[in-house]
Amino acid sequence: MKQQHVLAATALLFTCFAHRANAQQLRLQPDNIDRIVQTMTLEEKAQLLVGGAQSLVPGAAGATQAITRLGIPQTILSDGPAGLRISPTRENDSNTYYATGFPVGTALASTWNTQLVEAVGKAIGEEVLQYGADVLLAPGMNLHRSPLCGRNFEYYSEDPIVTGLIATAYTKGVQSNGVGVSLKHFAVNSQETNRMGVDEIVSQRALRELYLKGFEMTVKNAHPWTIMSSYNRLNGSFTQESRELLTTILRDEWGFDGIVMTDWTGKRNTAAQIQAGNDLMEPGAPVQSEEIVAKVKSGELAIADVDLCVKRVLEYIVKTPRFKEYRYNNKPDLKAHAAITRNTATEGMVLLKNNNATLPLKGVKKIALFGITSYDFIAGGTGSGDVNKPYTIDLRQGLNGAGLEVTQSLEDLYLKYKAYQEARIAADRRPGGWFWGKAVLPEMSVSRNTINRQAQEAEVAVLTLGRQAGEGGDRKIDDDFNLTSVERQLLQDLCDAFHAAGKPVIVIINTGGVIETASWKALPDAILLAWQPGQEGGNSVADVLTGKENPSGKLTMTFPIAVMDHPSSLNFPLGNNDMRTNGKRKNVDYTLHQEDIYVGYRYFHTRNKEVSYPFGYGLSYTTFTYSKPAVKATADGFSATITVKNSGSVAGKEVVQLYVAAPEGGLEKPSCELKSFAKTRLLQPGEQETLTFKVSAYDLASFDEALQSWVSAKGKYTLQFGASVEDIRATALYNLAREGSWKAHDVLKPTMSLK
Ligand code: GLC
Repeated sequence: MKQQHVLAATALLFTCFAHRANAQQLRLQPDNIDRIVQTMTLEEKAQLLVGGAQSLVPGAAGATQAITRLGIPQTILSDGPAGLRISPTRENDSNTYYATGFPVGTALASTWNTQLVEAVGKAIGEEVLQYGADVLLAPGMNLHRSPLCGRNFEYYSEDPIVTGLIATAYTKGVQSNGVGVSLKHFAVNSQETNRMGVDEIVSQRALRELYLKGFEMTVKNAHPWTIMSSYNRLNGSFTQESRELLTTILRDEWGFDGIVMTDWTGKRNTAAQIQAGNDLMEPGAPVQSEEIVAKVKSGELAIADVDLCVKRVLEYIVKTPRFKEYRYNNKPDLKAHAAITRNTATEGMVLLKNNNATLPLKGVKKIALFGITSYDFIAGGTGSGDVNKPYTIDLRQGLNGAGLEVTQSLEDLYLKYKAYQEARIAADRRPGGWFWGKAVLPEMSVSRNTINRQAQEAEVAVLTLGRQAGEGGDRKIDDDFNLTSVERQLLQDLCDAFHAAGKPVIVIINTGGVIETASWKALPDAILLAWQPGQEGGNSVADVLTGKENPSGKLTMTFPIAVMDHPSSLNFPLGNNDMRTNGKRKNVDYTLHQEDIYVGYRYFHTRNKEVSYPFGYGLSYTTFTYSKPAVKATADGFSATITVKNSGSVAGKEVVQLYVAAPEGGLEKPSCELKSFAKTRLLQPGEQETLTFKVSAYDLASFDEALQSWVSAKGKYTLQFGASVEDIRATALYNLAREGSWKAHDVLKPTMSLK
């Protein structure tokens, strides 16, 4: 008997050792993922699909959880579009961990320079890598449906092609470092008001042609590692629970092979999220893992659905630096990146007005610098899109750095006022400080006497108009989109006094989005839209004002005469949020996209509605002529060329937009649609460059709801080479001999009438 016991014990011991040895050997590798999935317990699987706390990179937004037993490491997810967002200091650590504050998304897009944007993405990705993160939660790429959306600064444009091409370049740049991105917020996160619950009701055509198109282009052309499903509902379902969005369209139609993570929300219907194809719940809470285990055990959630998400998360993890045990140094080249941000910011600035060649400043030594934002320049927006940067150069510092003096008396006045206002605000700082960021200080009134004295002492007046916005709230019309009465009075008094003295007035717009310009743009001599240009902002503006850099940015969205001119304004939360239908609040619980595909210039240009500054508009210190438009058929569409010549007296770059007017008949379409764009290199006076635009028949297609297909109508397309949507410099004709048709799935139907 005893012998049998010994044998049994030996056998058991051997089995344990074998199992243990086997378990010890089984560590995650790129080529054993299926075996790992089979080996994982249900609890381990549930843990892997839900984020968890991390201390590896303090200040990073989130993480995936480690399963140490199987050699599965934590991976680190960190914001944001304008630069890496982590804590700049750590307890008991004398090192600092600042990241570079790059220009905001809108400023990057305004360069229309995909090579430059890729270079910025590469620089940001280097900081992600060297500070030990694995994914950058960017690019933000929702459409500018309304100028009042609080997060427009993080996004690129009112146009899906600009959005798609800029996001593609940014993604390639970041991921060239061997780290990932997260395209966000997928999809139709077009307002911040009630962003967690609002149901965005959109036609299938507008959804496909506008709100999804940029994501589609980036998924197909840049292969992002991850996508972030948005907070909001879309046509009746949370995007995070929409299989039609996250599997049928994203994976089955577009071929996306990465992972989908939720935006940072608490537990929702975790089982439904997994069934939809949402692989990872962030930031994650144990209750979500518990729900997965319980729902599998109860049979409400198929283990096959769980295993599919687990497999995809593991396929993501094996790509990460953390899995590869990359030895990051916490010392990215911040100095080199500061130079990149300074130069890219200048290229995104848009010269809106320059009467009598006021700019660049010539022979000017002393400037009267007005506007509180001149002394407190806004580098970027607030919320998760903000960056803990080492400094921000304000305009005073930038001008001084360029050898220009600002009148001391005026500077003293503003600095005293700034100190007083900051003390007052500090006393009643809103809770959740970091999230709301620094408030823009209220503008200071300046007496007419002071202004008159300044007009005697200085050669030029510069006035900065600043605006701030960020996630969690949308912008207002009064005193935000529109100028405040103090700003309006100050501008009027400045122009009266300086013009009486025969001296010019220059306005700098330091915002993350559009403001009203039509009512006052006739007053100053020059207007430079600087956007929120990153930490080197003041230097970048000075580089343009002095002519060190010739501005070449162009608008990626329309500047309307009035915000209510936008058709989307009829269905956007404008503060009066109490209109209810069946108990649901219009523009809060649901938002009807009744403007359909007519967003931005698609509306203004098609309906011939006057604007203050059109889509694609931007001046230069030089001039350009366009010649030799040509087009030739290619295997899948056409290739068009245009020759651009610098016909002015200083070197400069030109952005050429290629619009297409479709043949008459068939689906109703906008009068023209942007299909491609290109930017010249720096052309010296007299130099020319021929730009090439490649457009496929699929690119020309519109989405036909009756056929649930993309259709490129056969017939004559008019190609329009534009310096803006309203400034067409050359045309060419392209004949599509055969109709093109691409079947799609009939999904995401609107759940409320859009009539
Ligand atoms: C935020 C934002 C998202 C960000 C995430 C992590 O709420 O919506 O853009 O990446 O949470 O901070």
